[in-house]
Amino acid sequence: MERVQTGIKGLDSMLFGGIPAGNQVLVVGGPGAGKTLLSFEFLYRNALQGSKGIFFALEEQKDRLIENVKEAFSDLGKGIDEMISKGMLIIDGEDIVSRLNEGVTQPTYEFGKVVSDIETMVTDVGAKFVVIDPITSMSVILDDPKVYRRTLLALVANLRRLGLTSLITMEAKTPERKFARFAPEYYLFDGILSLYQLGEEEKRILAMEIMKMRGTNHSFVTSPYEITSSGFRVISAEDVALP
Ligand SMILES: Nc1ncnc2c1ncn2[C@@H]1O[C@H](COP(=O)(O)OP(=O)(O)OP(=O)(O)O)[C@@H](O)[C@H]1O
Ligand SMILES: [Mg+2]
Repeated sequence: MERVQTGIKGLDSMLFGGIPAGNQVLVVGGPGAGKTLLSFEFLYRNALQGSKGIFFALEEQKDRLIENVKEAFSDLGKGIDEMISKGMLIIDGEDIVSRLNEGVTQPTYEFGKVVSDIETMVTDVGAKFVVIDPITSMSVILDDPKVYRRTLLALVANLRRLGLTSLITMEAKTPERKFARFAPEYYLFDGILSLYQLGEEEKRILAMEIMKMRGTNHSFVTSPYEITSSGFRVISAEDVALP
């Protein structure tokens, strides 16, 4: 089976080598958990390896996103600029409300246009990887839960048909693991990567868990992570030698 390495320290060990190619993976987490940065790093690491990726930012303008990422990953700044200028890492940033400016009266039709924009761009540049950040912004315009779910289903089917391996971010209802519940959206995706807060407010620990990943065995250990100036670092149990 073909796997896609995320290039993120520790995460590939949790995935027993990487994400099975063609999987559509939901990255769930609370505010500031690192969903945007982690997905960006995934595209960046693969761009360095010669594979094109597109980041669709639905709630942020392109320049602001790049600024934030370079601020957080200050040691990677030059590399990020290089991947962007070479066209290996493409950022499409326009918030969804302005995308849909003219057609909010017919949100599903307009959303279809967003999906076809994604398709056109992916085929034009020959991208292998896609990030959509965050998918939750769609629920703002698709307020009927059934319509929202059906639209997500269509989106996932389209990404799959295009042969992409994708990370799609979603805001969690709660950042704490002990309150986390399966949301209906979870069933639509091939994989779920959850970013949590463990512990008390005063001593927060960030940790991630692979809730599911079709096509591979994976770690079941919730593993702490930190966001460093050179990328994510996940302390995976698979990397720690047991006595
Ligand atoms: N310069 C920095 N140095 C260290 N950590 C940083 C830096 N900038 C940001 N961070 C960390 O990254 C987090 C933000 O990451 P990110 O934007 O990916 O979160 P998010 O899950 O996408 O949040 P949101 O739901 O608000 O979009 C911050 O909460 C902070 O912990
Ligand atoms: Mg974000």
